[in-house]
Amino acid sequence: MTTDTAGRQFWDDEADRFDDEPDHGLRDPQVRDAWAIRLRSWLPEAPSDVLDLGCGTGSLALLAALDGHRVTAVDRSERMIARARAKLAGTGAQAVVGDATLPPVGSRRFDVVLVRHVLWALPDPAAALRGWTRLLRPGGRLVLVEGRWGTVSPAGIAADILARLAASLGGSTTIHQLGPHPELWGREVADERYAAVVRPAPPQRHTEVVDVHLILLRGREVLLARRAGTGYADGLLHAPSGHLEDGEDVRAGMIRETAEEIGIDLAPHELEAAVVMQHRSPDGRPRIGWFFTARLAPGAEPANREPDKCSELGWYPLDDLPQDMVAYCRAGLDAFRAGVPFLTHLHESGDLIAYDAAGVDRAVPLAAPVVPGSPI
Ligand SMILES: C[S@@+](CC[C@H](N)C(=O)[O-])C[C@H]1O[C@@H](n2cnc3c(N)ncnc32)[C@H](O)[C@@H]1O
Repeated sequence: MTTDTAGRQFWDDEADRFDDEPDHGLRDPQVRDAWAIRLRSWLPEAPSDVLDLGCGTGSLALLAALDGHRVTAVDRSERMIARARAKLAGTGAQAVVGDATLPPVGSRRFDVVLVRHVLWALPDPAAALRGWTRLLRPGGRLVLVEGRWGTVSPAGIAADILARLAASLGGSTTIHQLGPHPELWGREVADERYAAVVRPAPPQRHTEVVDVHLILLRGREVLLARRAGTGYADGLLHAPSGHLEDGEDVRAGMIRETAEEIGIDLAPHELEAAVVMQHRSPDGRPRIGWFFTARLAPGAEPANREPDKCSELGWYPLDDLPQDMVAYCRAGLDAFRAGVPFLTHLHESGDLIAYDAAGVDRAVPLAAPVVPGSPI
């Protein structure tokens, strides 16, 4: 049984007794009123489109629907959804089976994405937050109710960690501590419980830095530079590369960078575009990387023109590339060798910048090889 299936089975099995907990079923009028008041303070005053993800038996969805909001509730447990449908009957709210990280809502957008006690257990909370933000209309908000339950070996996500994740969305995050309010839980609690109201920055037109990389070939060897003193990937091998300057075309940028870094003057016709890759460093923003090939002209010799950024240049066999490379650059060279012209290589937080043969391969080809098996 996969973890995914096991998780679904677990919540299916829990569905019948889930509402027995005071804060789940909200059967006690005092607990229910306490949540209704809180929820009202986190949601917009005007009737709004609310998406409740991992809705369970639909208790919060019901409170929102009774306040006049148009609610869509999603849970991947069929038995939870069956209970939510019964609870929401007659309110106009919809309850559908689906994954919280990829809810089945098509192109619909919402004023609020509401998620209680789900984020902490998802495999990639940062990616989930980014995805939920894309489901919001401009001016929309995420309402996240989370905590860190238990005192001996607590499970959950602490408010400061969630606030840090939310900060990467831009905008503002307000944390409301809920632990000191027993009326919400039907008893005193000693652990951390809170709600985060996240108003992500309004979506901007997406822009990306463009960088250019030289695959300089001498027969079946490629020139690589060892980075040093830059603060990024120092000690690792990388193709000669750099960012485009404002208004520069990619070929002109490659010619300029080649001259600046290795002292070789290339003519435009000597460069051929080989690979275009959208790449992202572990905690960075995506960039568009162009990889150009050029062949070393007879008599030409590259020289390290930026010793403050590069400790050495060296020729390496293209068919037996070194291990100590920047991972995305290695992926670019591997794509070139395989004839794959377009790919993404998007690191996730926590990935190594360095190539790791045993690690997760982030390269995703976007096109079939140009000449399968033999590009050069
Ligand atoms: C602790 S319960 C919370 C239920 C509800 N949000 C509440 O506060 O009453 C967690 C719920 O999230 C659901 N869930 C967990 N992972 C999910 C996923 N990836 N997609 C959709 N639902 C998920 C479970 O089926 C379960 O109903």
